[in-house]
Amino acid sequence: MSEPTLIPVTGSAPYDVLVGHDLIGWLPGLVGSRVERVALLYAAELAEQAQPVLDVLLAHYDVLGLGLPDGEDAKTAGVAADCWEALGEKGFTRSDAVVTFGGGATTDLGGFVAATWLRGVRVVHVPTTVLAMVDAAVGGKTGINTGAGKNLVGSFYEPAAVLCDLDLLDTLPRAELVAGLGEVVKCGFIADPEILTLVEQNDPETIVPGSAVLTELIERAIRVKARVVAADLKESGTASALGPGHPGREVLNYGHTLGHAIEKHSGYAIRHGEAVAVGCVYAAELARAAGLLGDEIVARHRTAFGRVGLPTDIGSTSVAGTGFDELIGTIRVDKKARGSQLRFLVLRGLAEPMILAGPDETQLRSAYEAVSATHAEGEGAER
Ligand code: GLY
Repeated sequence: MSEPTLIPVTGSAPYDVLVGHDLIGWLPGLVGSRVERVALLYAAELAEQAQPVLDVLLAHYDVLGLGLPDGEDAKTAGVAADCWEALGEKGFTRSDAVVTFGGGATTDLGGFVAATWLRGVRVVHVPTTVLAMVDAAVGGKTGINTGAGKNLVGSFYEPAAVLCDLDLLDTLPRAELVAGLGEVVKCGFIADPEILTLVEQNDPETIVPGSAVLTELIERAIRVKARVVAADLKESGTASALGPGHPGREVLNYGHTLGHAIEKHSGYAIRHGEAVAVGCVYAAELARAAGLLGDEIVARHRTAFGRVGLPTDIGSTSVAGTGFDELIGTIRVDKKARGSQLRFLVLRGLAEPMILAGPDETQLRSAYEAVSATHAEGEGAER
């Protein structure tokens, strides 16, 4: 067991994100000594990796292990109900706890079960992917999907702690790691340009589990998220701590407006981080079309995302050829469902986010043209 880096998430229910290697031994200290029973909700496909976690917990608690379906299949009302039944049978009380072990879908579902059982029991997340470490496990968003859409049922429920044991990334498929870097690079553009420098100055082949550069990228992205959610947990848009005019938590949705439409058109076959990468390039092109952003920062989007191995145009994804009307139509339907006008999170400079509300059709179309085919600008095109 080694010493972790502690990243505090301040606010009304403050907690720490622990980042480092060989950290599983820290888990009982995070779950706490007043807890009697622990439900370990883990992605069933990760049963082997979950065993050491189970062993550590068994030495301290009465443990209920609950294997969950893979990926988004875990995020259903049926799976949540099965978990509630299991907690009931085991006699879980307000002073017991949930530990999640898995990717973002596991932390979303597990966080939701913890938030709703007896109106809230303690939860500690142990994310196993880059994406879950830098995004899903931090900030308290929990939820499930319904027939009407993804993440429409849920709550803000902050964990007692997040344990990011980087050793868990050793077995993560490279494509998953790269997809997670999509959210990391996004954090570089919205808040911490040093992330971009690290990506630009390090050989992408060296950004691997166990490397100092991957550790620094993950820690920096977590710090970005921690600062944002501490300032605006519930995405209310009021975040004076982040500076005047800052859009608050919505900043984390950079690249997600088009990104979600791309994911939807691919039948969710495209990884989230891949869709976000294209979505960020689109947002940069839109800002350029609106006269807000210069050529150099737009080109830097293609360089940074492309360098880590992510797509930077629709033409190199499985939804190549999807028309402007289809993609923008999907965005409009989503927005209509939320009763708001078309709005995009854009940049007017590095780490200078703003909301572009109601962009005109010409700007939307020009940005689409710029990302609809393989683009020759920047290193990203060399992938
Ligand atoms: N994943 C975006 C957020 O946590 O707000």
